[in-house]
Amino acid sequence: MPIGVFDSGIGGLTVVKRIASALPTEDIVYFGDTARVPYGSKSNSTVIEYSIQDAKFLMNKNVKAIVVACNTSSSVAIEALRNKFHVPVIGMIEPGARFAVSQTKTGRIGVIGTRATIKNKAYSSEIKKLNPDIEVFEKACPLFVPLAEEGWIKHKAAYDIAEEYLKDLKKSDIDTLVLGCTHYPILAKVIQDVIGENVKLVDSGIASAEAVKKELDRIGLNTNKFSPGNQQFYVSDIPLKFKAIAELFLGRKIADVTKVDLELLSV
Ligand code: DGL
Repeated sequence: MPIGVFDSGIGGLTVVKRIASALPTEDIVYFGDTARVPYGSKSNSTVIEYSIQDAKFLMNKNVKAIVVACNTSSSVAIEALRNKFHVPVIGMIEPGARFAVSQTKTGRIGVIGTRATIKNKAYSSEIKKLNPDIEVFEKACPLFVPLAEEGWIKHKAAYDIAEEYLKDLKKSDIDTLVLGCTHYPILAKVIQDVIGENVKLVDSGIASAEAVKKELDRIGLNTNKFSPGNQQFYVSDIPLKFKAIAELFLGRKIADVTKVDLELLSV
């Protein structure tokens, strides 16, 4: 049985990359809701509705676990998904928050994400649950998503936008910064250059992949194959630059991508 992974679009491919390196023999089915991206600027009820449809699509592929490779969905829909589906549902927020808490020495953590993730205080409330003494500084950085999708990962505009977004965080003396959106690891170099080398970047995808591994161990559902895992990619639309962007996000070539009709998702 494969692991199901979904995102609002292609950002979740940065998480697929991490899962594939933590669990190289596991099969993965990925669904990216590219027709309805972005989720980060939509209301909670819409994000919950879409997330349930995305997860249902994966359940129909007979997945043994669902990874919500979208911080926005993780921040608003995780409870609804856990209530609705009987397989383990692993999000980005809990593992990412836990990893950030384990990394900070000064107890000052920054979080960047979409407007929805920041507005819902997803990371700060999870971090405070783990350690109420930690101070959390949050900033929504919505323009990082189109920059990553354009592949502008070394562009001057990316540096200018990062300078603007991160200027308050630079003054807040953080030692750890959570990349609270699955698109942001693509811009890690720009973000690191701007925030400074003394700040440790936390990629929630790495923490989430570790959480998937632990969960599969716990429930005894790891594959017993030894050959490399097979990956299937489904999207609700195939944008013009899809393949190039997907390969940038995944860090390798991909073969086939299948388009799924939106009508099929909503039945
Ligand atoms: N991948 C989404 C996330 O991690 C960002 C893109 C969107 O706004 O849908 O929140």
